[in-house]
Amino acid sequence: MMPQTADLDTMADALGARGWIVVPSFFAAAEVAALAADCRALDAAATLMPAATGREAGRRQAGLRGDRTRWFEPDALSSPQAAYWQAMDALRRGLNQRLLLGLESLEAHYALYPPGAGYARHRDRFRDDDARVLSSVCYLNEGWQPADGGVLRLHLTDGVHDVVPQDGTLALFLSAEIEHEVLPAQRERLSIAGWFRRRELAHG
Ligand code: OGA
Ligand code: MN
Repeated sequence: MMPQTADLDTMADALGARGWIVVPSFFAAAEVAALAADCRALDAAATLMPAATGREAGRRQAGLRGDRTRWFEPDALSSPQAAYWQAMDALRRGLNQRLLLGLESLEAHYALYPPGAGYARHRDRFRDDDARVLSSVCYLNEGWQPADGGVLRLHLTDGVHDVVPQDGTLALFLSAEIEHEVLPAQRERLSIAGWFRRRELAHG
């Protein structure tokens, strides 16, 4: 799956104008189903870990977020992960041609929210890590119903916008600017959170 030129133009326009965009069916159903199966297999093998916030390895803030995560390793991607990575890299290059964001690399992890888990309101750029420029979330949940809850709530200057975590949907928003939260869901909720990063400046 590769983003088409017309889609990239539309996405770049919206991102440039207001700093966020939601694209339903950005990823194909078969691709997303393979990613969901990959994520569930990794979780069954107990390789998803309770998430930490910020870069403080191991320091849990259990009250803040209730998901389990596993980082993608660029040198050891499963085949569904490689397809995701390729699509996201094409997106990165396409956005760089249209916006002056200087997106240089991608980091991404699976996230599994058990029923009842959420992620309190936050921004994705941390005090000790200001390299994140553009946040992305790709949803892996087939047949999500409004009653299942679990929306991604974007807090915008003119109110909130709720994103239903339907499979194939891609949400993009500026990491430094847009506060957001994950509301608890009635069922297990799977996603891939990815961050496009700029070059890190050497600290003196
Ligand atoms: C995050 C996050 C949103 C979502 O991982 O930082 O905000 O909808 N995820 O899963
Ligand atoms: Mn976030």
